[in-house]
Amino acid sequence: MIIALDGPAASGKGTLAKRLAQHFGYAHLDTGKLYRAVGLAVLQSGGDPENAAAAESAANALVPSDLDNPALSGDDAAVAASKVAAIPAVRAALLAFQRRFAESPPDGAPGAVIDGRDIGTVVCPDAPAKLFVTADVEIRAERRHKELLGRGETSIYARVLQDLTERDERDSNRAVSPLQTASDAVVLDTSAMDPDAAFAAALAHVEKRLKDASDR
Ligand code: C5P
Repeated sequence: MIIALDGPAASGKGTLAKRLAQHFGYAHLDTGKLYRAVGLAVLQSGGDPENAAAAESAANALVPSDLDNPALSGDDAAVAASKVAAIPAVRAALLAFQRRFAESPPDGAPGAVIDGRDIGTVVCPDAPAKLFVTADVEIRAERRHKELLGRGETSIYARVLQDLTERDERDSNRAVSPLQTASDAVVLDTSAMDPDAAFAAALAHVEKRLKDASDR
């Protein structure tokens, strides 16, 4: 059983994905981390994340322990991630890892919750439950700004808003696997919802889809 969650940065999909995974006892894969790890590896080797050859070789060299690097949550990694994510060879290299996770979730989990930008459209187009989680960009920037401050990092709201706007633009307009709503996904706009309300709405949808799938 696969639950696919897509949406723009800081829409709340990561938090939702974790809670859904915990609720159902499923494994969770945050696919943004894969792209962040590739972007960070290129930056750390002194390369340019827009250089296709450097990014492809970093994607091919990725090992699971790279996903535990705390530096992945930083904004440098996020910006580099959205640059390497536009390179077709990088997406192709990461696709196999994501599909394997979906087909055989780790630790014998009976299902997987996978969040990203193209899970319902490209990685798992047959997922029975798909959510597209979104929120107004100013609200997402505010949440992200507070999260950074809460972690004791320096953050300037205007800079966060600009980064998110540019990232949305790159993610939505790239030629390969752009951020878009799958035709069979339910759109969940969390602009006016707190995390509990967003979880309740997501859970109601997923439970309905799981029931429909088991009735079939
Ligand atoms: O979700 P997160 O903000 O961590 O993702 C970082 C970047 O990785 C995104 O801005 C996007 O460019 C890229 N990404 C992607 N496809 C995914 C997940 C993330 O292109 N499935």
